[in-house]
Amino acid sequence: MLPSLAFSLVLSASVALAAESPIAVQPFGQTHDGTKVSMYTLKNSSGMSVQITNYGATILRILAPDRSGRTADVVLGFNTLAEYEKDSPYFGATVGRFANRIANGQFTLDGRTYNLAKNNSPGGIPCSLHGGKRGFDKVVWDAERTTVDGVPALVLNYVSKDGEEGYPGSLKVTVTYSVTDDNALRIDYAATTDKATPLNLTNHTYFNLLGEGNGDVLGHRVMINADYYTPTNKGLIPTGEVAAVKGTPFDFTEAHVIGERINADSEQIQAAGGYDHNWVLNSKDGKLAHAATVSEPTTGRILDVWTTEPGLQFYTGNFLDGKLVGKSGKIYPYRGALTLETQHFPDSPNQPGFPSTILRPGQTYRATTVYRFSAQ
Ligand code: GLA
Repeated sequence: MLPSLAFSLVLSASVALAAESPIAVQPFGQTHDGTKVSMYTLKNSSGMSVQITNYGATILRILAPDRSGRTADVVLGFNTLAEYEKDSPYFGATVGRFANRIANGQFTLDGRTYNLAKNNSPGGIPCSLHGGKRGFDKVVWDAERTTVDGVPALVLNYVSKDGEEGYPGSLKVTVTYSVTDDNALRIDYAATTDKATPLNLTNHTYFNLLGEGNGDVLGHRVMINADYYTPTNKGLIPTGEVAAVKGTPFDFTEAHVIGERINADSEQIQAAGGYDHNWVLNSKDGKLAHAATVSEPTTGRILDVWTTEPGLQFYTGNFLDGKLVGKSGKIYPYRGALTLETQHFPDSPNQPGFPSTILRPGQTYRATTVYRFSAQ
């Protein structure tokens, strides 16, 4: 066979293979240090489409239908990789090695004290936030398109080296994204380590069910399946107390419009500039359970969250300041989105009363979160 013919046969075979994967792939630029990254599109048969990049294992777009079947992109984000590298307040990102805050950027494990980057200081109180200076949101993950239980899945792998960002142990992390026909985005996390390490993974998607850039989320209705939350000090670090939500603006056991109590005369709300707290979910057995429902009355869009995690950080975009311009050229205003970060409780490595976040050699960390869209 002529070499050029052989080459074109091999080429067409690999093109055919790629064409067979229901997950389309296209370039998404290269990082400032020259690594090429891609954008993957996952679609289902019911009109939902999710785009993900392997930079930060980040969700770029979620197209979800409203009550008349019209789709809109309901998550905040940028069009270019450069903007993600420069400006992103964790838009859509996978957050690790430890999601949320660790007090004073320090913890002690098995008698040894570890120091982390102090990359955040709400209220002038320094802490380590979301994995440090270069957390899992800022690294390039290896991507593999596959099928899990008959559903197309994007598997993203990252190996975080021993000592990376000050954390002990070489940690292998896998995040698997799949989109099912009931309009659910499912995220499965798995990890193993060769030394004991704190671990807390989440996804930091900013949702706006009106469509990204279409104003603030104060009119969204929220229900959180939690009778307790973890109050924080001025540095947004849990005090260690687990407080009842009953009779406070933190009671979302029945749905409330966000704007109703967000300016309440509450020290907790004022210190955080809105909602930015960890709710202690009622389901405690580690099984996939319903955590929250968000609905937006004008479009009829509904987002339901299920998770195996014990906590949920409900954050109302209080640090968005109207300076970021998003995918469709619109400004992202103050409180222009909300996040529902399924997680273990913030600062757990320093809080003996909270569920443990320590992963040890020989154990496998597993967690699942499902974001399901519907309309009414
Ligand atoms: C989390 C934190 C917030 C804020 C955002 C990122 O939601 O709880 O305080 O740091 O991340 O801006």
